[in-house]
Amino acid sequence: MSLARNALLWISENRTLRQTLPRYKFIRRAVSRFMPGEELADAMQAGDKLKEKKLTVILTRLGENVADAAETAEVKNHYLGVLQQIQQRGLDAYISIKPTQLGLDLNEELCFKNLTAIVERAAALQNWVWIDMEQSGYVDRTLALYKKVRKNYPKVGLCVQAYLYRTQKDLEALLPLSPAIRLVKGAYMEPANIAYPKKSDVDANFFALAKMLLANVKKNGVTLGIATHDKILIKKIQEEAEAQGLAKNDYEFQLLYGIQTDEQFRLAAEGYRMRVLISYGSYWFPWYVRRLAERPANILFVLKNLFRS
Ligand code: FDA
Repeated sequence: MSLARNALLWISENRTLRQTLPRYKFIRRAVSRFMPGEELADAMQAGDKLKEKKLTVILTRLGENVADAAETAEVKNHYLGVLQQIQQRGLDAYISIKPTQLGLDLNEELCFKNLTAIVERAAALQNWVWIDMEQSGYVDRTLALYKKVRKNYPKVGLCVQAYLYRTQKDLEALLPLSPAIRLVKGAYMEPANIAYPKKSDVDANFFALAKMLLANVKKNGVTLGIATHDKILIKKIQEEAEAQGLAKNDYEFQLLYGIQTDEQFRLAAEGYRMRVLISYGSYWFPWYVRRLAERPANILFVLKNLFRS
């Protein structure tokens, strides 16, 4: 793992910096590259524009490690409203949530109740809810949460991280549930006894897991979201899916708003299902710094905004 990536991931988790750095205007300006705005309306409008190009979306309000039960209720109510608005607008939009936004740090039962309320509303509206995967310390609890919710609701998906050594075994245990899986590389700082430190190993594991999941789309009813901007992996996965006899719409690609936009349009134009994850909300700092860590060259973009101020 590069030094710059480590340093940025450290910054993303530092409480003082989380509070002070977002106040700087040049940082606020730079973040607009990755999110259309802080309000839900901004995300919805961006969704409308992407719809014109045949792209669908996932909406997520940024936030994590909510430490107050009343605040988790506010998050739950917010998402209940989002589901309603998606329906009224006729937008093909799922939602994606972090378990610690719903109280996983406080109490697993509270988190489960909040999530169930959201998934239940989504089910009534025939929509999907995706669960993000956070740092490795949350994986066991997030898997347990997913299994419990998935028992009663089919339209709920889980993110898994290819950088963790354990993910293959976790997936094997999930297969009997016909899970919906979003495969990502992993965005957090993890020690080498838990996660592959070398990018080439993460990439290789991503492909191995994607191959295994593709093989289970028909066999075990897996719903699959391939969530990477890595064009080499995307191409290899397309070829693998074709070799396995899958059609373009048997799985979908999920990419982040503002990253590899040309690739997103290309995938949609070629007939693949392409879903863009759009973030909004005021609590964007740790999420934004994780985006910088994915490509430390992005810091140049932040600095350009500093000199524009
Ligand atoms: P990689 O980092 O190798 O990037 C491949 C190429 O894409 C780069 O060379 C660059 O060109 C471009 N690129 C990637 N990131 C960029 C950036 N920030 N800015 C500019 N260019 C960039 N993680 C997690 O731990 N839990 C989660 O729940 C999720 N959820 C999630 C949902 C969706 C829809 C996506 C796309 C990603 C996530 N992630 C995530 C993040 C994921 O783990 C990973 O950190 C990023 O996707 C970056 O990794 P790539 O697979 O894109 O490859």
